[in-house]
Amino acid sequence: MMTKDSAAEKIDVREHLDELFALDVKVAKATPSLLPLESKEAFLDFLIKEHKSENWVWRNSEGRMISYLSLVDKPAENSLEILNIGVDPDMQRSGYGRRMMEFAEDIARQAGREKTTLVTNTKNIHAVAFYRDIGYLIVKEMPNYYGDGETRYLFEKQLQ
Ligand SMILES: CC(C)(COP(=O)(O)OP(=O)(O)OC[C@H]1O[C@@H](n2cnc3c(N)ncnc32)[C@H](O)[C@@H]1OP(=O)(O)O)[C@@H](O)C(=O)NCCC(=O)NCCS
Repeated sequence: MMTKDSAAEKIDVREHLDELFALDVKVAKATPSLLPLESKEAFLDFLIKEHKSENWVWRNSEGRMISYLSLVDKPAENSLEILNIGVDPDMQRSGYGRRMMEFAEDIARQAGREKTTLVTNTKNIHAVAFYRDIGYLIVKEMPNYYGDGETRYLFEKQLQ
């Protein structure tokens, strides 16, 4: 569970790239529909150059990184996008994902945004079940969204 040992830690991705990339690869390997980015440099470009995301991680009591969250504020669309979210496969189904999504929604509300959004592979059935369970609705189905032939869902949650 997220105790005081696992408070949100805002990070500069460049300073934690090895650790974050290693966790992302571990998560992707355990999730058949997720492809890890091919290199640390491509991962960094995706998060920072391409999307200018802000990034948080959580650690266990030994200081090991166990989950991460990448957010992109989109004021023109009045929304905050959850660009990347992952929990160490050994720690999934323990409530970390739900808490990170609540954290993202709090940030969106503080910024005055009316909704949070995210994109996921339609084949990622665990993630689809997770987002549905926490109140997200599919608003669009997007064939070949990333140019890889795969179909993605756009999920949205209207914030109160
Ligand atoms: C998707 C992910 C972030 C969810 O995080 P998590 O910590 O495992 O999720 P939680 O424990 O907070 O689950 C909350 C609820 O979501 C639903 N849920 C979560 N994982 C599920 C699964 N594998 N199958 C069905 N429902 C699931 C459940 O209703 C769960 O509540 P419950 O455990 O009380 O039944 C995590 O599984 C993950 O990192 N997956 C791999 C990376 C990924 O797919 N990221 C999303 C890419 S868009």
